[in-house]
Amino acid sequence: MEKKITAKVFRYDPSVDEKPYYKEYEVPWQEDKSGFMTGLQVLHYIYENIEPIAYDYNCRGSICGRCSMVIDGKPGLACYTKLTPGRHTFEPLEGQPIIRDLIIDRKPVMQKFVETQVAKKTLNPVEKSENIDYDLYWNTLERLNNCRECMLCYDVCAALKVNDWDYIGPGAMMQVAFRHLDPHDEADRVEQAVHSGLWKCVMCGSCELVCPAQIPHLSLLKRLRDDAEKRGLKPEGCDDHNFWKNSQ
Ligand code: SF4
Ligand code: SF4
Ligand code: FES
Repeated sequence: MEKKITAKVFRYDPSVDEKPYYKEYEVPWQEDKSGFMTGLQVLHYIYENIEPIAYDYNCRGSICGRCSMVIDGKPGLACYTKLTPGRHTFEPLEGQPIIRDLIIDRKPVMQKFVETQVAKKTLNPVEKSENIDYDLYWNTLERLNNCRECMLCYDVCAALKVNDWDYIGPGAMMQVAFRHLDPHDEADRVEQAVHSGLWKCVMCGSCELVCPAQIPHLSLLKRLRDDAEKRGLKPEGCDDHNFWKNSQ
C-alpha cells in the first residue's frame, strides 16, 4: 500500500472565519536520509501542491525557533519533529492570539524578553573576558545564549496558565538568570527575578522538557530562588512548590 501522511491542520483566518476549523490533507510520503519526514516538510508539501496555508519558519535547522507549534498534541519545532506515515495533527501554540492558521502573535511574549533588558549592564568597560568556569560556560551560559525564543516553554508553563502575565514566563526568566550568572553584568538580577514573579513558578519542569536549547531551567530557577532567599527577598507566605498557594 502506498505510504502517505494524513495531515489534520488547524485553520483560522480571523478576518473571514467565524471560528477555527480543521482541514485534512493527503500528503505522499517522502522520507529523508534518516527515514523520516519532518512536520515542516509536510506543511511545505501542502502549501506548494494543494493550497496556501499559513505557518512560519526560517532556518529549517532547529535554530531560529520560528516553526514552533503543536504536532500530535506535543509542542515542538516543526523542522525538528520527525513523523512516520499515518495521521498527524498540526495546531498553533496555545494561549496566544492567532494571526492566521498556525501563526501566532509573538509580540506579547517578545515584549517580556525585551523587558528583561538582557543586554549586559555594567558601569565599567569590559576589556577582556574573565576566566569563566568551563562547566558553567558549556553547561549553562552557552545554552542560555542559544535560546531560540521559540516560545515552546510558554505553551507548557503551568504558572502562566493561572497567573496570566503576573509572571514574566520561563524564557524571559532564563534570560534574567543568564545575566545573574554573567560576571560582567552589574544589575541586580535577583531583585529583578523576584519582581518578575520568580515564586509564581511551580517548579513543574515542563519548560525544561520542551526546551530545544536544553537550558537547565529548574536548576537555574532554584539558583535564583536560593540567592533571593539568602538576601531575604523571598515574598512572605510563599512555599517553594505550592502551585495553588502561589497562584492566588
Ligand atoms: S518550571 Fe516554572 S517556569 Fe517552568 S513550566 Fe513549570 S511553572 Fe513554568
Ligand atoms: S527557553 Fe528554551 S523553550 Fe523557552 S524560548 Fe528559549 S529555547 Fe525556547
Ligand atoms: S525553521 Fe528555524 S527552528 Fe524550525
